[in-house]
This record gives sequence, C-alpha cells and structure tokens, in this order.
Amino acid sequence: MRLLADGNIHSGESLGESLGISRAAIWKQLQQLQDLGVPLTSVKGLGYCVEGGLDLLDYNIMLENFYAMYSKANPFEGKKILSELQVETSVDSTSQNLLRLSARGNSIHGVACFAEKQTAGRGRRGRSWQSPFASNLYFSIGWRIQNGVAAVEGLSLAVGVALCEALQSFGLDEVQLKWPNDLLYRGKKLGGILLEISGDAAGECNLVLGVGVNVSMPQQAAEEIDQAWVDLASIAKEQGLAVLPSRNELAARMLVHLFALLESYESLGFPHWRKRWEQLDAYAGQQVRLQLGAKEVTGEVQGVNDAGALLLKTHEGLQTFIGGEISLRPLL
Ligand code: BTN
Repeated sequence: MRLLADGNIHSGESLGESLGISRAAIWKQLQQLQDLGVPLTSVKGLGYCVEGGLDLLDYNIMLENFYAMYSKANPFEGKKILSELQVETSVDSTSQNLLRLSARGNSIHGVACFAEKQTAGRGRRGRSWQSPFASNLYFSIGWRIQNGVAAVEGLSLAVGVALCEALQSFGLDEVQLKWPNDLLYRGKKLGGILLEISGDAAGECNLVLGVGVNVSMPQQAAEEIDQAWVDLASIAKEQGLAVLPSRNELAARMLVHLFALLESYESLGFPHWRKRWEQLDAYAGQQVRLQLGAKEVTGEVQGVNDAGALLLKTHEGLQTFIGGEISLRPLL
C-alpha cells in the first residue's frame, strides 16, 4: 500500500523485490488492497498503480506534527496529553474500538484512534457513516470525566467550534455549524460529531468523542450518502487554496484543538464557547423546522443557551431544546 501510494506504475516483480516476497504473494496482497477499496489499476504489461496516488495516514508524521504544534501552545504538555495514538488500516468503528478497549478495563483517557477505513462507521440517530478507504478522516478520542456527564454539558457543540477553528487555521473559511454539531459548508454537510459515554453517568465515566470529516470523498461512496454533502478538497478548490493540507496535517491540527478543549472543558464549560458557537451558527436568525420524534416545531433560531440547548422563537414564545433525537432542517 505504501509503495503504491506514490501513484506510479509498479511491476509485480519490483513490488516483490522491494518486499522480498514472491509474485504470488504480491498478487494476494493486491487482492487484499482491492478488498479494502483501494482503487487499483492494472496496466497491461507494466504492472499496477493507484491513479492519483494515496494520501495515507502515517503514525510518525501525525505524531510529530501533533507534538510540534501542541508543545508550541502548551510547553511540555504535548507528550503527556496524548497517551496513545492508534492508526488502523480498517476497523468497524474507531469509537467502537475505544469503547471495546474501555469495556475490557483498559484506560482510554487521552487515546486517539484513527482508521483509514471503517466497516461499520456510525453517525448520530442510528445512521451509518460512509467511511471509504484513505479518503476522509475518521477518528475517536477517549477521555475520562471525573464529575459525571453534567460537567460536559454542551461539549459536543464546543467540539464543533474547535474543529471549525482548526480548519480556519489552514485558511479553510466559511465552515459553519448546524445545531447541535454538524459541520456545514454552504448548507452541505462536511463533517459530524458523535459523543458516546460509558460508565457511571453521575460520577466517573468515559467519553468517546468520534469525528468524521469528509476530505476527498470518492464517487462510489458519495452515491450512498442520502443528504447534501461536501468535502475539503472541493472547498479548497472553490476558495482558491493552492494545496489542501495532507490528512496527517489536518488530523494533527484537529487533535491539537480538541485536546486543548478537552483539557479545559470540565473547568470552563460551555459558557466559554457559547459566543464562538453562535458566531459559527449557519442558521442564526433563520426559520427552521425541528423534528422531535413524531412532533414538529417551527421557529426562528435565536442561538444557544449556556447549556448548549437551542433557543427557538416559536409562536408560543422562546423555547429551549436539548440535543438527543432532534433533527433541524431549514424551513424552505
Ligand atoms: C453524525 O452523524 O453527524 C456523526 C458522525 C460521526 C462519525 C465518526 S467517524 C469516527 C467515529 N466512528 C464512528 O463510527 N463514528 C464516528
């Protein structure tokens, strides 16, 4: 996979030589790559290539980038805060991976798990999350909460702010938020956040923060998505950004922003993030429709309160709505 990532044509023979294995073993490995969803082309008489190459995740590059950036802002803290970085080729779900570890009694505090591909990526409200190979970012961070879930009220909204700010730091502007925590660009979904909690909800518990951001969505996977979506590659093109940062750079920058947030959240809480969230609100002042199970409420978005609940001006007055199974749509 790493040999083919350069996008050049490699003969079966040269691949075999580089890896010290037989042509038959190479063929088997190529088959495995194809099964993973790597877009492999066989060029008659010459060998194999991945057209356009692959922007693979790399443990060392990501870690170096993370330490360099985190330590600049927080001297000597970088090595302490990220307790483990996992970079997997394929998992069912990076969040499930951490929840499994935690259920087996391992500490997942400060563990970040990335995967090139998820076979059962999950989204909010029981939906699935398209996770094709080496195209987008899928990762989860484990974090221990001392004082029950109440202490992390509004956290998923603050995570949205941290991700927008990480993208802004690359000059990727105009990414906004849709309550509670969808990343949007010009009304289309760029990314999503899923918070899961295990343990004692009133005391010490483990939080698994899952993030999916579309970087360069392949056509085939795109066809499976049932809502308007966008990826960073097309945003960068639209905004005239010369080069899109690599997935490793994007990943490291997101980790820096998220770890800084997680470390201070139990003491600062959502009030610290509220204004920034409201500045990024894609639907501020707009008429929306909220789906609350079978019930529907319409009203004008008036921002969020200190707990991260949505404030809606309805015909019954100003109402607040807490997360969960609520879905928000613009009123057309
Ligand atoms: C949403 O529906 O908006 C939330 C999507 C969250 C997807 C991410 S990808 C990494 C992590 N692992 C999962 O299975 N889901 C989250």
